[in-house]
Amino acid sequence: MFHAIAPEILERMHELERRDEADRTDGTPRLERLRQIPEETGRFIALWAASAPEGAVIEIGTSAGYSALWLSLACRATGRRLTTFELLANKAAMARQTFSRAGVDDLVTLVEGDFLDHAERIGPVGFCFLDAEKEAYAACYDAVVPLLVPGGLLVADNAINHRETLQEMIDAALGDERVDALVVPIGKGELVCRRRS
Ligand SMILES: C[S@@+](CC[C@H](N)C(=O)[O-])C[C@H]1O[C@@H](n2cnc3c(N)ncnc32)[C@H](O)[C@@H]1O
Repeated sequence: MFHAIAPEILERMHELERRDEADRTDGTPRLERLRQIPEETGRFIALWAASAPEGAVIEIGTSAGYSALWLSLACRATGRRLTTFELLANKAAMARQTFSRAGVDDLVTLVEGDFLDHAERIGPVGFCFLDAEKEAYAACYDAVVPLLVPGGLLVADNAINHRETLQEMIDAALGDERVDALVVPIGKGELVCRRRS
């Protein structure tokens, strides 16, 4: 998965990494910033996605498609497809460009719109990466957990750097008897939940 990443994927990843870094210091307004995960989180979610049981592989919060590129490596390795949801038209347009330039159109379906409007039509989920607005996390968690197959995984970003905003949702997940959950100190902090049978 990580040993032979196609040059066109690496090239787009590096381009997005440079833009994301610039966004954080050059005064780009928040809604236009990419706000993407760091590389180590990309590797982390790709490993989990590649190890997930049967079921849809989904992402909530595409931005320009950086994390989706990491998940596409897992999909390529396991013969699956990723469906990724993005609310904002300008971000969805950038993500389309990413998937086309990186040559992963065959692995990724981009759905433009609010994930919560689509959740009922997704079916059983094997892996979900949640990286949307923090205010939407609890609603997304509530929508996804019932869809997880036994052993299915939900990984949520920002569990440490946005701990205050997410505390209630994280506490609810840690106490939720439908899942086994843990906060992992990697990147911005990842809440990992595994659906019990
Ligand atoms: C932190 S960024 C995602 C970064 C991306 N995962 C990456 O690492 O490359 C959050 C994105 O989620 C989108 N978003 C927020 N709420 C959403 C929702 N309910 N459904 C779909 N997308 C949403 C925002 O428009 C924004 O582009």
